[in-house]
Amino acid sequence: MLKDKFGRHIDYMRVSVTDRCNLRCIYCSQKDAFSWIPHGEILSYEELFEILDQAVKLGIRRIRLTGGEPLVRKGLISFIRQISKAWGLKDLSLTTNGTLLAEVAAELKESGLTRVNISLDTLRPERFKEITGFDYWHRVWAGIEAALATKLAPVKINVVVLRGINDDEILDLARLTLHYPLEVRFIEFMPVGKGAAWEKKYFYSTKEVIERLRPLGPLVPVVTQGGGPAHTFCISGALGKIGFISAMTHHFCATCNRIRLTADGRLRPCLFSDYEINIKSLLRRPHRTEEIRAYIKQAVDAKPRDRLQGRPQRLMRSIGG
Ligand code: 5AD
Ligand code: SF4
Repeated sequence: MLKDKFGRHIDYMRVSVTDRCNLRCIYCSQKDAFSWIPHGEILSYEELFEILDQAVKLGIRRIRLTGGEPLVRKGLISFIRQISKAWGLKDLSLTTNGTLLAEVAAELKESGLTRVNISLDTLRPERFKEITGFDYWHRVWAGIEAALATKLAPVKINVVVLRGINDDEILDLARLTLHYPLEVRFIEFMPVGKGAAWEKKYFYSTKEVIERLRPLGPLVPVVTQGGGPAHTFCISGALGKIGFISAMTHHFCATCNRIRLTADGRLRPCLFSDYEINIKSLLRRPHRTEEIRAYIKQAVDAKPRDRLQGRPQRLMRSIGG
């Protein structure tokens, strides 16, 4: 079991398998679209497996694969099959923009993936193009339908709420939960990544979102598992749920249960701190298993109690969104 200095139980690892993405969301990467990590610096699947194997031996029980867009990386499905067979994880999930999901949802399910989180900030195809740079709304919707059909469940939808851009769709997005067993999660926009388009004028708080949802009637709290940062509710008669991730207005550091592994092989104790441990540097040494474990423990030990002020420099898509 991994415990940090503040008694938090760390059993969850978020792994960015690539910083590449086929979208350019305004809140993530638009202004810095072409600063990729060189291919040779990205961890190979063998290297990833070696690190995760030690992490699981130390007590990691749940893994999320993220990016960038994980589905743009070749060989991902075989890698998922390998890790789902290896350790009997409690949860093996994927964060995806959904554009490439429809074609592979069934195969993902069959390879042992438990569930997916899909980003969708708007129900309007033209607006989707403005937010992400690409005319792919219908592809994402097909991905969501495929995830529901293949029971990569619970299927969660991530909505980053941006004032003046998609805040007029809060009600419509929440109403999706009336007809589909989706968990629609409204996320507060976070200033992460040097050059990413964070501006105060776009910020829209959870409190304001809840205000906007008033016409739907009372939000009934739902108890959830896994200890993630979302607060979850449902509206009367709904098939799905509504979640709030108040990353800016309610720090959830006290219940933080995770460490991250970046696409270029750095352990990252906290999203909001650029302090990282270069675990990749160990991978070509002999007798490295003990050292890998020591580095993972060190990353857990380095978790700060609370978040640092200011903006971390690294882009969300290389940390793992
Ligand atoms: N603030 C909040 N959420 C973000 N994401 C990416 N960048 C940001 C940001 N600056 C989230 C999006 C996407 C997921 C991969 O990461 O919800 O769905
Ligand atoms: Fe790609 Fe996700 Fe960043 Fe959008 S938020 S550009 S989908 S990595």
